[in-house]
Order: sequence, then C-alpha cells, then structure tokens
Amino acid sequence: MGFADELAAGLRARPRCIAPKWFYDAAGSALFDRICALPEYYPTRTELALLDRHAAEMAAAIGPGAEIVEFGAGSSVKVRLLLAALQRPAGFVPVDISGEHLMAAAARLRADHPGLPVRPLVADYTAEALVLPPAAGRRVGFYPGSSIGNFDPAEAERLLARFRAWLPGGGLLIGVDLVKSPALLHAAYNDAAGVTAAFNLNLWARANRELGADFDLAAWEHAALYHPPLRRIEMHLVSRRRQTVHLAGEAFEFDEGDSVHTENSYKYTVEGFQAMARRAGWQPQAVWTDGQRRFALHWLDTVAPKEAR
Ligand code: AVJ
Repeated sequence: MGFADELAAGLRARPRCIAPKWFYDAAGSALFDRICALPEYYPTRTELALLDRHAAEMAAAIGPGAEIVEFGAGSSVKVRLLLAALQRPAGFVPVDISGEHLMAAAARLRADHPGLPVRPLVADYTAEALVLPPAAGRRVGFYPGSSIGNFDPAEAERLLARFRAWLPGGGLLIGVDLVKSPALLHAAYNDAAGVTAAFNLNLWARANRELGADFDLAAWEHAALYHPPLRRIEMHLVSRRRQTVHLAGEAFEFDEGDSVHTENSYKYTVEGFQAMARRAGWQPQAVWTDGQRRFALHWLDTVAPKEAR
C-alpha cells in the first residue's frame, strides 16, 4: 500500500494510526537528522560513541572477510565507523526504502572506500521478503539506531527471525535503546526547540504536499509520552478542535482531543532484548553499553558463545 491508501485506512481505523515509516520523505529525513543532533536526543550520540570506542572489539567479533548488510541504511554515517575497523570487509549491501537517499550515500561510500564492493538494494525490509545478491563473505547484518523500537515486541521478534533467515550462518550487530528514567525519555521526545514536534507534524505537511490533503497544521498538537507498563514512547498528533480534513475525496471528522497514533518507540533492558533475540533463533554474545546505560549495541551470532560450546 502507498501513503494515500495507508493514511486513509489509518484515519478510518479506531484508534486512528499511521506507520512511522511515512515520516521519512526528504523533509522528514532532514528533520530526523536534526533530531539526532539535539541535546535532549541521546541515542544517536551515545551509539556513535559506542561504535567509536568499541569498533575494534566489534570487528573482532564479526571476523575478517565479512559482508555487511545494513537495514534502513539512510545516510550510512554509522557504518563508516564499523567498516573502518573491519579486516578485509568483503562488501557492503545497504538496504533502504528510499532509493534516492540510498544511491547518493552508496556513491559517497564507494568514493571513500575504493575496492569495497557496494551493492545497494532498494527494498522495504519490513514488508517484503528480501532478495539479497549472492553473498561475498560471511554475512553480518547491521541495524543501528534502535529502529527495532518502532515495532511492537511480537513484530520485533518476527523481524529478528527474518533477519536470521536472511543471514544464514551470519551475525547481527543491532542498536537498542535501553529502559531508563521516564523524565529523560520524555525530554528526548519533547525537545525544547520543537524539532520532534515538526517531525511529527511533517506527516500532515507531507499529506498536503503529496496527496493534496487539507490538514491545517495549526489545528494539531504534537504529543509524546512514555508509557511505563509497555516500556514505550507513544507519539500522537492531537486535534486542537473539532474539524474536518479532506483526503482523496473523503472527509474525515475529528473532535477536539481526538488523536492519531503516529509512532511507538519501545525500550528494552539488556536481558529482555537478549531473551527476545534467543526466541528469534539468535545467540546473544557481547553487548556494549555506555556508562550511563542509555543505549546498547548487541552482538548476536548464529553459533553459541565459545564458553558454552
Ligand atoms: C528512528 C525509531 C529510532 O524512536 O527514537 C525520534 C525515531 N521519533 N524522535 C526513535 C524518533 C521521534 C527514532 N527511531
């Protein structure tokens, strides 16, 4: 389904909802890059520091001659730290839904890594069965940024099992945001500069641009709240008043306070994530966390750790 069909279906549904993957048009991707640089948004900075600090250990776990497959590659900033530390990487396969972004990033990577085969794949890894090119080496998945947090735990486990099937005999290096103080989480998704609000509202701006919808952005408010029992941030767009919005010939009515659920961002403890990875067929091995235990990078393999063999 395209954006128009999914948005219309989501506005008809109760509770109203739309998948977060629709945030990322060119404007939304630029807003997300600004989120990553915000003082309150700790995940990007923390994960980059972990990659920088432990790249040699990660490279040792991955081993020489590996081919890296990055899911949702985007601008490929993080993988550079990994590629720089790897011994004789056999290739890089960035997978992303946004072809333009992907091809531009692949061209920059090729220029900086002459001799490294870069084979981009335009695909929605959340929806399709991936058809990867023949492997050039032991295949290792890279899934940074805690993108896994966008899926509910049952979906996340299924996605991990799919990665496992796509990477036979391989490994997975995955970034996962940790459970922490609700106040810290609240700040990270309610930044003082209002960038996260603009990112959320860009969904409506995009619908107006692409689909000719007539959302009045001033009539909607960004809401992001942490729900401790479910260990997730929920983002919503909340109607400030009674209003009607038109989309593709259909009229959608909203009362004051009606919300559209636009994103979940689940947080995991180290042990909770490892248990889910095991259920999906992975063997959790090393895990790297920062001193404040804000973020975790997990190394999952297809073979048992040496001690256990
Ligand atoms: C890209 C899904 C990891 O959940 O923190 C950031 C997206 N949304 N601020 C996250 C996001 C609002 C981000 N992920």
